Amino acid sequence: QDTVALVPAAGRGERLGPGAPKSLRHLGGEPLVVHAVRRLAAANSVAAVVVAAPPGAAETVRELLAPVVLTAELVVVEGGGTRQASVAAALAAAPAHCDVVLVHDAARALAPPELADAVAAAVRAGHPAVVPVLPVVDTVRQLGEDGGASSTIDRERLRLVQTPQGFARSVLAEAHASCEDSLTDDAGLVERLGLPVHTVPGHASALKVTRPFDLVIADAVLAAERS
Ligand code: C5P
Repeated sequence: QDTVALVPAAGRGERLGPGAPKSLRHLGGEPLVVHAVRRLAAANSVAAVVVAAPPGAAETVRELLAPVVLTAELVVVEGGGTRQASVAAALAAAPAHCDVVLVHDAARALAPPELADAVAAAVRAGHPAVVPVLPVVDTVRQLGEDGGASSTIDRERLRLVQTPQGFARSVLAEAHASCEDSLTDDAGLVERLGLPVHTVPGHASALKVTRPFDLVIADAVLAAERS
């Protein structure tokens, strides 16, 4: 039995400014999706990668990735109108021999292969849902309802959630089948089934490229890796 990595890469990336879909924007001379998939394919645990490409760009993405994914099976499908729809489309195309599923945002282009392996290992160890997390370094303040007084939230028990997130395939399939509203991650769907979500340490390099400033940071991370 094997692990498949699903890569939602169909977002428009409007917060990054006008231009190509986010996963096709360049970082260090290559599209974000190429970085993300190369690292997943380099993970020992990953036997197959399914990418949900921007609408109309499946062939382009296939051509970009064919030289990059040599040791894993590669499937490219078109994504949907929401992240959740894109993950569902990728899951439907995942090879049948894979019983563990990782879901990884193309926007977290520099997540190291070891992070994917750590998440997959925790699923294999018996956790139905696993997310990598980082501690919160800032003090957090919650706004009151309708402009009422704001209050500090104890940050000690708060964590920032990253991807790749890992799931037993049957659990992720059930979570997607049973939830209509669009959540921002897949562990949130699994939680609604009443199942526990296990956490493992995340990695600073797995930052999500959302705004132009994030590209500056990611560029620096990549340059430091290459030096
Ligand atoms: O917009 P956000 O940064 O939260 O998107 C997270 C990931 O989900 C990105 O990799 C993006 O390409 C993907 N996505 C998708 N299909 C959508 C919207 C987002 O695959 N319709």
